[in-house]
Amino acid sequence: MPGIFVAKHAALKDGDRRIVKTTRGEIGVFAHSGGFYAYENKCVHSGGPACEGVMMPKVIDILAEDKTYQGQAFSEDETHFVCPWHGYEYNVKTGVCVGDPRRKLKSYEVVLRGDDIFVIA
Ligand code: FES
Repeated sequence: MPGIFVAKHAALKDGDRRIVKTTRGEIGVFAHSGGFYAYENKCVHSGGPACEGVMMPKVIDILAEDKTYQGQAFSEDETHFVCPWHGYEYNVKTGVCVGDPRRKLKSYEVVLRGDDIFVIA
């Protein structure tokens, strides 16, 4: 199980990402909250480079007890990346499409060997 080299551990800090090329396409590798997550860089919508999009906290609607809208806030627990083509959002920890949770990006295992990070594809 050789895998594809991604980066040195010290070079991929929390919040960073790398796009690695394989013979079958690209994979986005994210360092997030102490873990590593890897997904096919191919949006479920129209095949755009989803893993290259902006990262942002989940936006939460704030509702009063009577369900009236009070505004919005950023989640402290969930981060998304947004496909740059048409805005589909994905949970960085699961690859699930936020707008349609039945769909998700293909995921890959990420392993640490010594100081080197590899993705298994
Ligand atoms: S291709 Fe990603 S949102 Fe359309």
